[in-house]
Amino acid sequence: MLSDCVIVNLPKISDPRGNLTAIEGATIPFEIKRVYYIYDIPAASTRAAHSHKNLTQLLIAISGSFEVSLYDGLNYKTFVLNKPYEGLIIRPMIWRDLFNFSAGAVCLCLASELYDESDYYRNFDDFNKAINSK
Ligand code: TYD
Repeated sequence: MLSDCVIVNLPKISDPRGNLTAIEGATIPFEIKRVYYIYDIPAASTRAAHSHKNLTQLLIAISGSFEVSLYDGLNYKTFVLNKPYEGLIIRPMIWRDLFNFSAGAVCLCLASELYDESDYYRNFDDFNKAINSK
């Protein structure tokens, strides 16, 4: 559900030498099975444009900023990610678009499942049909 897609505050250990954020199992509400990151993103790019059937993920703007639009079949909600100590939880059956990437933006994704193409809806109409038949 869209209301379950929330910003979580990650620990930030401030230091004159630079800040540090650590993510341990208890920090986020799922077991991390996979980590990937998106980088060297051209300014006009949009990424994602899909929904997952079962996977939950946490997105973090490790560097720079970008926006995330979420859609649950009924409502849209947009988040700006621009802090390395904040993550956005995205639950299953939520269509997401990532856009408006700043120069040097890096999107870190912690995922609850291994990569599995059959877990994706990549076609918006198929996603809408699936969500409306629930
Ligand atoms: P894609 O899902 O289109 O990226 P995003 O939705 O985040 O914009 O993935 C791009 C390509 O990378 C696609 O061919 C699938 C592949 N891929 C993997 O092999 N492993 C992974 O963990 C991910 C996320 C993608």
